[in-house]
Amino acid sequence: MSTRDARPSPQQRPHPGAATPAGAEPHPHDAGAIRRRASPAYDSVLLKACRREPVPHTPVWFMRQAGRALPEYRKLREGTAMLESCFRPDLVTEITLQPVRRLGVDAAIFFSDIVVPLKAVGVDLDIVPGVGPVVAAPFRTAADLDRLPELLAAPQITQAVQQLIGELGATPLIGFAGAPFTLASYLVEGGPSKNHAQTKALMHGDPGLWWQLMDRLASITLAFLRVQVDAGASAVQLFDSWVGALPAADYRTFVQPHSARVLAGVADVPRIHFGVGTGELLHDMGQAGADVVGVDWRVPLDEAVRRVGPGKALQGNLDPTLVLGPTSVVRAQTERIVAEGRAAEGHVFNLGHGVLPETDPDALARIVDHVHELTAR
Ligand code: CP3
Repeated sequence: MSTRDARPSPQQRPHPGAATPAGAEPHPHDAGAIRRRASPAYDSVLLKACRREPVPHTPVWFMRQAGRALPEYRKLREGTAMLESCFRPDLVTEITLQPVRRLGVDAAIFFSDIVVPLKAVGVDLDIVPGVGPVVAAPFRTAADLDRLPELLAAPQITQAVQQLIGELGATPLIGFAGAPFTLASYLVEGGPSKNHAQTKALMHGDPGLWWQLMDRLASITLAFLRVQVDAGASAVQLFDSWVGALPAADYRTFVQPHSARVLAGVADVPRIHFGVGTGELLHDMGQAGADVVGVDWRVPLDEAVRRVGPGKALQGNLDPTLVLGPTSVVRAQTERIVAEGRAAEGHVFNLGHGVLPETDPDALARIVDHVHELTAR
Protein backbone atom coordinates (compact mmCIF):
# COMPACT_ATOMS: atom_id res chain seq x y z
CA MET A 1 0.00 0.00 0.00
CA SER A 2 1.39 3.44 -0.82
CA THR A 3 1.59 6.12 1.85
CA ARG A 4 -0.89 8.28 0.01
CA ASP A 5 -3.56 5.56 0.21
CA ALA A 6 -3.11 5.48 3.95
CA ARG A 7 -4.04 9.07 4.63
CA PRO A 8 -3.88 10.06 8.26
CA SER A 9 -7.04 11.72 9.50
CA PRO A 10 -5.98 14.45 11.91
CA GLN A 11 -8.36 17.27 12.70
CA GLN A 12 -7.50 20.49 10.93
CA ARG A 13 -8.94 23.83 9.97
CA PRO A 14 -7.57 26.74 7.95
CA HIS A 15 -4.93 28.93 9.52
CA PRO A 16 -6.65 32.00 11.00
CA GLY A 17 -3.68 34.31 10.46
CA ALA A 18 -0.85 35.16 12.78
CA ALA A 19 -2.55 33.71 15.87
CA THR A 20 -0.53 31.02 17.64
CA PRO A 21 -2.78 28.83 19.75
CA ALA A 22 0.04 26.78 21.26
CA GLY A 23 2.53 29.61 21.48
CA ALA A 24 2.14 30.87 25.03
CA GLU A 25 4.87 30.05 27.52
CA PRO A 26 3.45 27.77 30.23
CA HIS A 27 3.48 28.87 33.84
CA PRO A 28 5.99 26.86 35.93
CA HIS A 29 3.36 26.03 38.54
CA ASP A 30 0.71 24.80 36.14
CA ALA A 31 -0.66 21.26 36.33
CA GLY A 32 1.60 20.10 33.49
CA ALA A 33 4.75 21.29 35.24
CA ILE A 34 3.75 19.56 38.48
CA ARG A 35 2.94 16.34 36.59
CA ARG A 36 6.32 16.47 34.82
CA ARG A 37 8.25 16.86 38.08
CA ALA A 38 6.38 13.86 39.46
CA SER A 39 7.30 11.73 36.41
CA PRO A 40 9.92 9.00 37.00
CA ALA A 41 11.94 10.37 34.06
CA TYR A 42 12.38 13.76 35.76
CA ASP A 43 15.44 12.57 37.70
CA SER A 44 16.91 10.63 34.78
CA VAL A 45 20.54 11.19 33.84
CA LEU A 46 19.55 12.77 30.52
CA LEU A 47 17.29 15.40 32.05
CA LYS A 48 19.82 16.19 34.77
CA ALA A 49 22.56 16.73 32.18
CA CYS A 50 20.22 18.95 30.15
CA ARG A 51 19.55 20.98 33.31
CA ARG A 52 23.34 21.11 33.98
CA GLU A 53 22.95 19.27 37.28
CA PRO A 54 25.51 16.73 38.57
CA VAL A 55 25.10 13.28 36.97
CA PRO A 56 26.24 9.77 37.98
CA HIS A 57 27.53 9.30 34.40
CA THR A 58 27.29 11.10 31.07
CA PRO A 59 24.03 10.18 29.31
CA VAL A 60 24.17 8.73 25.78
CA TRP A 61 21.62 8.49 22.97
CA PHE A 62 22.02 8.47 19.20
CA MET A 63 20.23 10.53 16.58
CA ARG A 64 18.44 8.01 14.29
CA GLN A 65 18.98 5.25 16.83
CA ALA A 66 15.64 3.84 15.71
CA GLY A 67 15.96 2.79 12.11
CA ARG A 68 17.77 0.89 9.45
CA ALA A 69 20.86 -0.05 11.48
CA LEU A 70 18.63 -2.45 13.46
CA PRO A 71 17.62 -5.77 11.82
CA GLU A 72 14.49 -5.91 14.02
CA TYR A 73 13.49 -2.50 12.62
CA ARG A 74 13.92 -3.64 9.01
CA LYS A 75 11.84 -6.73 9.72
CA LEU A 76 9.03 -4.77 11.37
CA ARG A 77 8.95 -2.18 8.58
CA GLU A 78 8.73 -4.77 5.77
CA GLY A 79 5.80 -3.87 3.51
CA THR A 80 4.90 -0.65 5.33
CA ALA A 81 5.83 2.74 3.87
CA MET A 82 7.81 5.09 6.13
CA LEU A 83 5.10 7.74 6.50
CA GLU A 84 2.38 5.17 6.99
CA SER A 85 4.34 3.61 9.84
CA CYS A 86 4.66 7.03 11.52
CA PHE A 87 0.85 7.19 11.85
CA ARG A 88 0.50 3.69 13.39
CA PRO A 89 0.86 3.98 17.17
CA ASP A 90 1.72 0.29 17.74
CA LEU A 91 4.52 0.39 15.16
CA VAL A 92 5.82 3.74 16.44
CA THR A 93 5.88 2.40 19.99
CA GLU A 94 7.72 -0.80 19.11
CA ILE A 95 10.26 0.92 16.81
CA THR A 96 10.98 3.59 19.44
CA LEU A 97 11.59 0.92 22.09
CA GLN A 98 13.88 -1.30 19.96
CA PRO A 99 17.10 0.72 20.40
CA VAL A 100 16.40 1.28 24.10
CA ARG A 101 16.29 -2.48 24.65
CA ARG A 102 19.24 -3.33 22.45
CA LEU A 103 21.69 -0.47 23.00
CA GLY A 104 21.21 0.53 26.65
CA VAL A 105 20.87 4.21 25.73
CA ASP A 106 19.75 6.76 28.32
CA ALA A 107 16.81 8.06 26.29
CA ALA A 108 14.29 7.08 23.66
CA ILE A 109 13.64 9.35 20.70
CA PHE A 110 10.15 9.31 19.31
CA PHE A 111 10.02 7.45 16.00
CA SER A 112 8.58 9.81 13.44
CA ASP A 113 9.96 12.15 10.81
CA ILE A 114 10.31 15.89 10.41
CA VAL A 115 7.72 15.92 7.60
CA VAL A 116 5.03 14.10 9.62
CA PRO A 117 3.34 17.34 10.84
CA LEU A 118 3.25 18.63 7.25
CA LYS A 119 1.61 15.38 6.17
CA ALA A 120 -0.79 15.74 9.10
CA VAL A 121 -2.01 19.14 7.87
CA GLY A 122 -2.52 17.72 4.39
CA VAL A 123 0.63 18.64 2.43
CA ASP A 124 1.01 16.17 -0.46
CA LEU A 125 4.43 14.63 0.19
CA ASP A 126 6.13 11.29 0.56
CA ILE A 127 9.38 9.89 1.93
CA VAL A 128 11.13 8.17 -0.96
CA PRO A 129 13.58 5.43 0.12
CA GLY A 130 17.16 6.44 -0.64
CA VAL A 131 16.08 10.03 -1.42
CA GLY A 132 14.20 11.54 1.52
CA PRO A 133 11.10 13.74 1.69
CA VAL A 134 9.67 14.73 -1.71
CA VAL A 135 6.91 17.36 -2.00
CA ALA A 136 4.44 17.00 -4.90
CA ALA A 137 4.04 20.76 -5.52
CA PRO A 138 6.87 22.97 -4.24
CA PHE A 139 6.01 26.14 -2.30
CA ARG A 140 6.58 29.24 -4.46
CA THR A 141 3.88 31.94 -4.03
CA ALA A 142 1.59 33.49 -1.43
CA ALA A 143 -1.26 31.27 -2.69
CA ASP A 144 0.74 28.28 -1.40
CA LEU A 145 0.29 29.53 2.18
CA ASP A 146 -3.24 28.14 2.04
CA ARG A 147 -1.73 24.65 1.93
CA LEU A 148 -0.24 25.20 5.41
CA PRO A 149 -3.16 25.31 7.86
CA GLU A 150 -2.65 24.97 11.59
CA LEU A 151 -2.09 21.60 13.18
CA LEU A 152 -4.84 21.32 15.77
CA ALA A 153 -4.40 17.74 16.89
CA ALA A 154 -2.61 14.57 15.87
CA PRO A 155 -4.44 11.74 17.66
CA GLN A 156 -2.10 9.00 16.39
CA ILE A 157 0.92 10.87 17.75
CA THR A 158 -0.75 11.48 21.11
CA GLN A 159 -1.67 7.80 21.39
CA ALA A 160 1.84 6.62 20.49
CA VAL A 161 3.49 8.94 23.02
CA GLN A 162 1.09 7.88 25.77
CA GLN A 163 1.74 4.20 25.05
CA LEU A 164 5.48 4.84 25.12
CA ILE A 165 5.43 6.70 28.41
CA GLY A 166 3.67 3.71 29.94
CA GLU A 167 6.37 1.35 28.64
CA LEU A 168 9.44 3.49 29.26
CA GLY A 169 9.14 4.06 33.01
CA ALA A 170 12.13 6.12 34.15
CA THR A 171 13.70 6.31 30.67
CA PRO A 172 12.91 9.74 29.21
CA LEU A 173 11.24 10.13 25.82
CA ILE A 174 12.67 12.88 23.61
CA GLY A 175 10.07 14.41 21.35
CA PHE A 176 11.23 16.19 18.22
CA ALA A 177 10.34 18.30 15.25
CA GLY A 178 12.04 19.79 12.23
CA ALA A 179 12.79 23.50 12.60
CA PRO A 180 11.07 26.00 10.30
CA PHE A 181 14.13 26.59 8.07
CA THR A 182 14.76 22.90 7.37
CA LEU A 183 11.05 22.31 6.68
CA ALA A 184 10.96 25.39 4.44
CA SER A 185 13.89 24.02 2.46
CA TYR A 186 12.05 20.75 1.71
CA LEU A 187 8.86 22.64 0.82
CA VAL A 188 10.49 25.25 -1.40
CA GLU A 189 12.98 22.94 -3.13
CA GLY A 190 10.42 20.13 -3.41
CA GLY A 191 12.92 17.65 -1.94
CA PRO A 192 16.45 17.32 -0.61
CA SER A 193 18.84 19.98 -1.85
CA LYS A 194 22.58 20.54 -1.86
CA ASN A 195 22.70 24.32 -2.08
CA HIS A 196 19.16 25.41 -1.08
CA ALA A 197 19.14 27.83 -4.03
CA GLN A 198 15.37 28.33 -4.35
CA THR A 199 15.06 28.67 -0.59
CA LYS A 200 17.68 31.41 -0.39
CA ALA A 201 16.18 33.10 -3.47
CA LEU A 202 12.79 33.30 -1.74
CA MET A 203 14.32 34.43 1.56
CA HIS A 204 16.19 37.35 -0.03
CA GLY A 205 13.88 38.01 -2.98
CA ASP A 206 10.59 38.17 -1.08
CA PRO A 207 11.32 38.62 2.63
CA GLY A 208 7.64 39.29 3.39
CA LEU A 209 6.48 35.98 1.93
CA TRP A 210 9.45 34.23 3.57
CA TRP A 211 8.33 35.58 6.95
CA GLN A 212 4.77 34.36 6.41
CA LEU A 213 6.01 30.92 5.36
CA MET A 214 8.30 30.64 8.38
CA ASP A 215 5.51 31.87 10.66
CA ARG A 216 3.15 29.13 9.41
CA LEU A 217 5.86 26.50 9.77
CA ALA A 218 6.74 27.69 13.27
CA SER A 219 3.07 27.30 14.28
CA ILE A 220 2.89 23.76 12.85
CA THR A 221 6.23 22.78 14.41
CA LEU A 222 5.28 24.16 17.80
CA ALA A 223 1.89 22.43 17.72
CA PHE A 224 3.61 19.10 16.85
CA LEU A 225 6.01 19.52 19.78
CA ARG A 226 3.18 20.48 22.16
CA VAL A 227 1.27 17.33 21.16
CA GLN A 228 4.31 15.26 22.19
CA VAL A 229 5.06 17.19 25.40
CA ASP A 230 1.42 17.28 26.48
CA ALA A 231 1.24 13.50 25.98
CA GLY A 232 4.30 13.02 28.23
CA ALA A 233 7.56 13.53 26.27
CA SER A 234 10.07 14.87 28.81
CA ALA A 235 12.51 16.72 26.51
CA VAL A 236 12.47 17.89 22.89
CA GLN A 237 14.98 18.22 20.11
CA LEU A 238 14.42 20.78 17.38
CA PHE A 239 16.31 19.60 14.26
CA ASP A 240 17.48 22.41 11.99
CA SER A 241 19.52 19.97 9.97
CA TRP A 242 20.28 22.18 6.95
CA VAL A 243 20.54 25.65 8.54
CA GLY A 244 24.35 25.42 8.37
CA ALA A 245 23.93 26.57 4.75
CA LEU A 246 23.36 30.14 6.04
CA PRO A 247 25.77 32.83 7.24
CA ALA A 248 25.14 33.99 10.81
CA ALA A 249 23.68 37.37 9.76
CA ASP A 250 21.05 35.68 7.57
CA TYR A 251 20.35 33.17 10.34
CA ARG A 252 19.63 35.98 12.78
CA THR A 253 17.40 37.90 10.36
CA PHE A 254 15.49 35.17 8.58
CA VAL A 255 15.45 32.15 10.88
CA GLN A 256 16.18 32.81 14.54
CA PRO A 257 12.94 34.68 15.42
CA HIS A 258 10.87 31.73 14.21
CA SER A 259 12.97 29.04 15.89
CA ALA A 260 12.87 31.16 19.05
CA ARG A 261 9.06 31.24 19.00
CA VAL A 262 8.98 27.45 18.73
CA LEU A 263 11.48 26.93 21.54
CA ALA A 264 9.71 29.44 23.81
CA GLY A 265 6.51 27.46 23.43
CA VAL A 266 8.04 24.31 24.96
CA ALA A 267 9.98 26.00 27.77
CA ASP A 268 8.40 23.56 30.24
CA VAL A 269 10.85 20.81 29.15
CA PRO A 270 14.59 20.81 28.29
CA ARG A 271 15.10 21.89 24.69
CA ILE A 272 17.92 20.52 22.50
CA HIS A 273 18.64 22.38 19.25
CA PHE A 274 20.78 20.78 16.56
CA GLY A 275 21.97 21.36 13.02
CA VAL A 276 24.73 20.08 10.73
CA GLY A 277 27.64 22.33 9.69
CA THR A 278 26.55 24.96 12.20
CA GLY A 279 29.99 25.85 13.62
CA GLU A 280 29.42 29.52 12.77
CA LEU A 281 25.88 29.48 14.20
CA LEU A 282 26.37 27.74 17.54
CA HIS A 283 26.09 30.90 19.61
CA ASP A 284 23.00 32.16 17.80
CA MET A 285 21.30 28.76 17.96
CA GLY A 286 21.83 28.74 21.72
CA GLN A 287 20.39 32.25 21.91
CA ALA A 288 17.30 31.06 20.03
CA GLY A 289 16.30 29.51 23.35
CA ALA A 290 17.97 26.10 23.57
CA ASP A 291 18.99 24.56 26.88
CA VAL A 292 21.30 22.15 25.04
CA VAL A 293 23.13 22.98 21.81
CA GLY A 294 23.83 20.02 19.51
CA VAL A 295 27.24 20.07 17.82
CA ASP A 296 28.28 18.09 14.74
CA TRP A 297 31.74 16.47 14.47
CA ARG A 298 33.46 19.49 12.90
CA VAL A 299 33.86 21.59 16.05
CA PRO A 300 35.51 20.06 19.15
CA LEU A 301 33.26 20.35 22.21
CA ASP A 302 35.71 22.49 24.20
CA GLU A 303 35.76 24.97 21.32
CA ALA A 304 31.96 24.73 21.07
CA VAL A 305 31.76 25.73 24.75
CA ARG A 306 33.60 28.97 23.89
CA ARG A 307 31.36 29.64 20.91
CA VAL A 308 28.06 28.87 22.67
CA GLY A 309 28.91 30.72 25.89
CA PRO A 310 27.78 30.05 29.47
CA GLY A 311 24.45 28.71 30.67
CA LYS A 312 24.04 25.90 28.13
CA ALA A 313 24.72 22.18 28.00
CA LEU A 314 26.18 20.62 24.84
CA GLN A 315 25.30 17.47 22.90
CA GLY A 316 27.57 15.52 20.57
CA ASN A 317 29.71 14.80 18.67
CA LEU A 318 31.24 11.56 17.39
CA ASP A 319 31.47 11.45 13.58
CA PRO A 320 28.88 8.78 12.59
CA THR A 321 31.15 7.50 9.81
CA LEU A 322 33.86 6.57 12.32
CA VAL A 323 31.49 4.11 14.01
CA LEU A 324 31.99 1.96 10.89
CA GLY A 325 35.75 1.85 11.63
CA PRO A 326 37.89 -0.31 13.90
CA THR A 327 36.91 -0.57 17.57
CA SER A 328 40.24 0.95 18.62
CA VAL A 329 39.49 4.10 16.61
CA VAL A 330 35.96 4.38 18.00
CA ARG A 331 37.30 3.98 21.54
CA ALA A 332 40.00 6.63 21.08
CA GLN A 333 37.56 9.10 19.52
CA THR A 334 35.00 8.44 22.27
CA GLU A 335 37.66 9.15 24.90
CA ARG A 336 38.63 12.40 23.16
CA ILE A 337 35.01 13.57 23.02
CA VAL A 338 34.35 12.69 26.66
CA ALA A 339 37.50 14.63 27.64
CA GLU A 340 36.54 17.66 25.53
CA GLY A 341 32.97 17.44 26.85
CA ARG A 342 34.22 17.99 30.39
CA ALA A 343 34.60 21.68 29.46
CA ALA A 344 30.80 21.91 29.13
CA GLU A 345 28.41 22.68 32.00
CA GLY A 346 26.48 19.57 30.96
CA HIS A 347 27.28 16.98 28.29
CA VAL A 348 24.92 14.64 26.48
CA PHE A 349 26.99 12.18 24.43
CA ASN A 350 25.67 11.63 20.89
CA LEU A 351 26.89 11.31 17.34
CA GLY A 352 27.53 14.47 15.31
CA HIS A 353 24.60 13.45 13.04
CA GLY A 354 22.37 10.42 12.59
CA VAL A 355 23.37 6.74 12.76
CA LEU A 356 24.25 5.49 9.26
CA PRO A 357 22.15 2.52 8.06
CA GLU A 358 25.24 0.30 7.62
CA THR A 359 26.30 0.73 11.28
CA ASP A 360 26.83 -2.39 13.41
CA PRO A 361 24.40 -2.07 16.36
CA ASP A 362 26.97 -3.81 18.60
CA ALA A 363 29.40 -0.95 17.93
CA LEU A 364 26.75 1.48 19.20
CA ALA A 365 26.13 -0.63 22.31
CA ARG A 366 29.90 -0.67 23.00
CA ILE A 367 30.00 3.14 22.79
CA VAL A 368 27.21 3.42 25.36
CA ASP A 369 29.07 1.12 27.78
CA HIS A 370 32.38 2.89 27.17
CA VAL A 371 30.98 6.37 27.84
CA HIS A 372 29.26 5.12 30.99
CA GLU A 373 32.53 3.55 32.24
CA LEU A 374 34.65 6.60 31.41
CA THR A 375 32.32 9.02 33.16
CA ALA A 376 31.12 7.00 36.19
CA ARG A 377 31.42 9.16 39.32
O1 CP3 B 1 15.78 7.47 15.89
C1 CP3 B 1 15.50 8.66 15.60
O2 CP3 B 1 16.35 9.57 15.56
C2 CP3 B 1 14.03 9.02 15.42
C3 CP3 B 1 13.54 8.96 14.11
C4 CP3 B 1 13.82 10.01 13.06
C5 CP3 B 1 13.64 9.74 11.70
N1 CP3 B 1 13.79 10.89 11.00
C6 CP3 B 1 13.29 8.44 11.17
C7 CP3 B 1 13.55 8.16 9.74
C8 CP3 B 1 14.17 11.35 13.16
C9 CP3 B 1 14.52 12.15 14.39
C10 CP3 B 1 14.14 11.89 11.85
C11 CP3 B 1 14.36 13.32 11.55
C12 CP3 B 1 14.67 13.70 10.17
N2 CP3 B 1 14.10 13.28 9.00
C13 CP3 B 1 15.59 14.72 9.86
C14 CP3 B 1 16.37 15.50 10.88
C15 CP3 B 1 17.52 14.69 11.34
C16 CP3 B 1 18.66 14.68 10.37
O3 CP3 B 1 18.97 13.60 9.86
O4 CP3 B 1 19.25 15.75 10.17
C17 CP3 B 1 15.60 14.88 8.46
C18 CP3 B 1 16.45 15.84 7.66
C19 CP3 B 1 14.65 13.98 7.94
C20 CP3 B 1 14.26 13.79 6.52
C21 CP3 B 1 14.49 12.39 6.09
N3 CP3 B 1 13.65 11.36 6.42
C22 CP3 B 1 15.59 11.85 5.36
C23 CP3 B 1 16.73 12.65 4.80
C24 CP3 B 1 15.38 10.47 5.28
C25 CP3 B 1 16.29 9.42 4.67
C26 CP3 B 1 15.82 8.95 3.33
C27 CP3 B 1 16.62 7.75 2.86
O5 CP3 B 1 16.00 6.70 2.64
O6 CP3 B 1 17.84 7.86 2.78
C28 CP3 B 1 14.17 10.18 5.94
C29 CP3 B 1 13.57 8.87 6.16
C30 CP3 B 1 13.67 8.33 7.52
N4 CP3 B 1 13.38 9.00 8.68
C31 CP3 B 1 14.05 7.01 7.87
C32 CP3 B 1 13.97 6.90 9.25
C33 CP3 B 1 14.21 5.68 10.10
C34 CP3 B 1 14.44 5.94 6.87
C35 CP3 B 1 13.18 5.37 6.29
C36 CP3 B 1 13.24 3.90 6.15
O7 CP3 B 1 13.55 3.20 7.13
O8 CP3 B 1 12.90 3.43 5.06
